[in-house]
Amino acid sequence: MEAAGKEEISVEDEAVDKNIFKDCSKIAFYRRQKQQLSTKSTYQALLDSATKGKDSTKFQILNEATKVPLLAEVYGIEGNIFRLKINEETPLKPRYEVPDVVTSKPRTVRLISSSGDAGSLVLADGKGDLKCHITANPFKVDLMSEEEVVMSINSLGHLYFEHLQVPLKKRATKENKEDTSVDASQENQEDLGLWEEKFGKFVDVKVNGPASIGLDFSLHGFEHLYGIPQHAESHQLKNTGDGDAYRLYNLDVYGYKIHDKMGIYGSVPYLLAHKPGRTLGIFWLNASETLVEINTEPAVKYTLTQMGPVAAKQKVRSRTDVHWMSESGIIDVFLLTGPTPSDVFKQYSYLTGAQAMPPLFSLGYHQCRWNYEDEQDVKAVDAGFDEHDIPYDVMWLDIEHTEGKRYFTWDKKRFPNPKRMQELLRNKKRKLVVISDPHIKIDPDYSVYAEAKEQGFFVRNHEGGDFEGVCWPGLSSYLDFTNPKVREWYSSLFTFSAYQGSTDILYIWNDMNEPSVFRGPELTMQKNAIHHGNWEHRELHNIYGFYQQMATAEGLIQRSKGKERPFVLTRSFFAGSQKYGAVWTGDNTAEWSYLKISIPMLLTLSITGIPFCGADVGGFIGNPEAELLVRWYQAGAYQPFFRGHATMNTKRREPWLFGEEHTRLIREAIRQRYTLLPYWYSLFYRAHVAAEPVMRPLWIEFPEELNTFGVEDEYMLGSALLVHPVTEPKATTVSVFLPGSNEVWYDSKTDAHWEGACTVKIPVTLDTIPVFQRGGSIVPIKTTIGKSTGYMTDSPYGLRVALSTKGSAVGELYLDDGHSFQYLHQKQFLHRKFSFLSGVLTNSCADKRGHHPSKCVVERVFVLGLKKQPSSVTTHSSDGKEEPVVFTYCTTMSTLSLEKLSLNIGADWEVHIK
Ligand code: NOJ
Repeated sequence: MEAAGKEEISVEDEAVDKNIFKDCSKIAFYRRQKQQLSTKSTYQALLDSATKGKDSTKFQILNEATKVPLLAEVYGIEGNIFRLKINEETPLKPRYEVPDVVTSKPRTVRLISSSGDAGSLVLADGKGDLKCHITANPFKVDLMSEEEVVMSINSLGHLYFEHLQVPLKKRATKENKEDTSVDASQENQEDLGLWEEKFGKFVDVKVNGPASIGLDFSLHGFEHLYGIPQHAESHQLKNTGDGDAYRLYNLDVYGYKIHDKMGIYGSVPYLLAHKPGRTLGIFWLNASETLVEINTEPAVKYTLTQMGPVAAKQKVRSRTDVHWMSESGIIDVFLLTGPTPSDVFKQYSYLTGAQAMPPLFSLGYHQCRWNYEDEQDVKAVDAGFDEHDIPYDVMWLDIEHTEGKRYFTWDKKRFPNPKRMQELLRNKKRKLVVISDPHIKIDPDYSVYAEAKEQGFFVRNHEGGDFEGVCWPGLSSYLDFTNPKVREWYSSLFTFSAYQGSTDILYIWNDMNEPSVFRGPELTMQKNAIHHGNWEHRELHNIYGFYQQMATAEGLIQRSKGKERPFVLTRSFFAGSQKYGAVWTGDNTAEWSYLKISIPMLLTLSITGIPFCGADVGGFIGNPEAELLVRWYQAGAYQPFFRGHATMNTKRREPWLFGEEHTRLIREAIRQRYTLLPYWYSLFYRAHVAAEPVMRPLWIEFPEELNTFGVEDEYMLGSALLVHPVTEPKATTVSVFLPGSNEVWYDSKTDAHWEGACTVKIPVTLDTIPVFQRGGSIVPIKTTIGKSTGYMTDSPYGLRVALSTKGSAVGELYLDDGHSFQYLHQKQFLHRKFSFLSGVLTNSCADKRGHHPSKCVVERVFVLGLKKQPSSVTTHSSDGKEEPVVFTYCTTMSTLSLEKLSLNIGADWEVHIK
């Protein structure tokens, strides 16, 4: 392929055409598995041969037609998790098992086996309330909790396993006529893509023939499923019709279509099922192309007279069937048994790791554009924020900052003095993020290329040469991040001496790492490209981007000699990416519908272990009108990763370019973000240590309330704030559902309150961001806002106390230096607990291990829902000192305001309200 000139390269030209991407009918393993299902062949487990090892129980499974033995292994894992692995017993060569995702080896628990009825085996955990009931013929596994079947595996008989085969040609020469398992007739071969799969001009050759796997799971009593990002789809998973499965295949889809199940940038093969009383998780650990079909059979109510009591009880239950299919690898599935949503989050995070604790600055506002042209431009935009009194933390530079898209370099004309530019930002306590993509320009004079070439660090093509594909720089090779040596080397490129012009305020953005290959099949890499260990790309496609972010984060840690927390944004991701940084939803469009879909897309990421996520504010493609831009800032301010971004050829859209009024509204939205920083940071700490999502669908906070299960136009931030972004043009009202019959909710703008379990129509103007504080919560805020988070270290706190129907409230605050690992290694942090009970507000220690001296004081306390005017308010310090406080009580709104307090945030004290 010849090197492409700059003008030829545009993802816009290539990606908008949806024919570039496959639908299910064009995916051969999908067609094969569907065809097979119509000719039902069954598997039988040979339970008599079951053996119990230290960690697992093993037995063979035989397909009655092929007779090729499979080996099944069942593990009990600490924390109420089961793992089922199925592989060929003696594959022709090893099949790919996804490494590096499951954190250290999960601790197994001994399962106690007993044979049930003839032809079955029961494996119970020590406590005995969870059991795997394995039936031999046909092979089936029932997962039981307290004698109730919650999940059945292979009850629909969709277990599917294609065995690796000797290449056809070799077989022919050997005249080996034994293998009759595959029909190799020309016609069938074309249709089923057994050895070769065609897509447009591309031909994918499969050396060992078809290798796909599949299995079904029936979830009894469940109608609500969530997860398996990334799709531009609703939060609750939809039933899939024929040819309409959810696809997990990381692809660069510019301006992706919404309400579509096609795979986009990242994949987490993990879903959650929820019903009142129980949440379950299924984590399908496979990194090859994967399809998921969902089919819900709603509850059918039969009367006792029609069916008799037993049948009635069974029939009344709803059920959802989930059918997973992957192109290759093995079946390796973790069953997370909950029972609560927070148990499932902990179980998943035990396996794949928790959200890395982000540096505080990264929770501020980020300003990006493809591209900020030069140093002057950066200076002017930076100054613009100060002129307009808008806080921001991070300036971003896209691909044009480099010398011809050679990452780790600077365009000398545009950015002659990158250090000087970073000093300018540093002086304002701000940071810089620059982009670093996985493709490396083929240019022997480019040291990154030359070194990687010499060391054999690129992905190879199937002929053994370096894989070459076109991306931004023209013809490029792609670093093989699956190789630990490549990762180590890549990490070393971020040291200050190697990365000329970089300083310690420079952080990284990994883009195009699906990987995006402009002229490749579906804009990605050929499946038969070869990675470290001789694995084909098909085996690990979905994990490629994960590894780049891993190596980048590690590089940033190493350049600081292990002291500083990294910040790395990635476009492509996999299960476990949360350990390395943040994720965003790629190339969205400046339309209302994309603003709206950002909410379910982010909720789905949040509950599948990736809480640090966001969508480009304003919409990447196109030009948002002022109203849309304002609404997007208002929504983004209440979403975890908050970055404005726009593509090339769009009009400039810095916050002050839309007239004074709109500037004011955007300023106000961003300031609200900074006001709530202590709350955000505390939520991220909870995500980090306890796997609690930051942005939460309502069903997580109200797991017993059916009417929350489908809500996706509003959500909770932590457990205290309910946010309902305005996503319609010219809105004058918004219908907000306030859940919980025993709850009371306070409007953050007007202080008005409502009892829960109702939908209220809230009048809105362009300056309204509908946010409600839940009665019973205390939210820490900052009362003064600086130019950036760095200016706010010492600024005072406020506490917003929203009383429950019983007149009480609780909350917490986590605080540390905001950037280092000292919180972890030296326990340099403060974790405070606030409670309000019987008129006494208490600040006490939530974690005695932590110590972090802080000069900060709580300056203001605002109490919502205080029914009676107090006669006195006094503060009480731990040394017995008591002081009166001047207060303002508002009878109409039942609010109490205490100002000019000076109560140290880290000290124990009380405020008595009598
Ligand atoms: C694609 C990314 O999604 C977008 O955010 C970025 O601006 C362009 N690549 C150019 O780097």
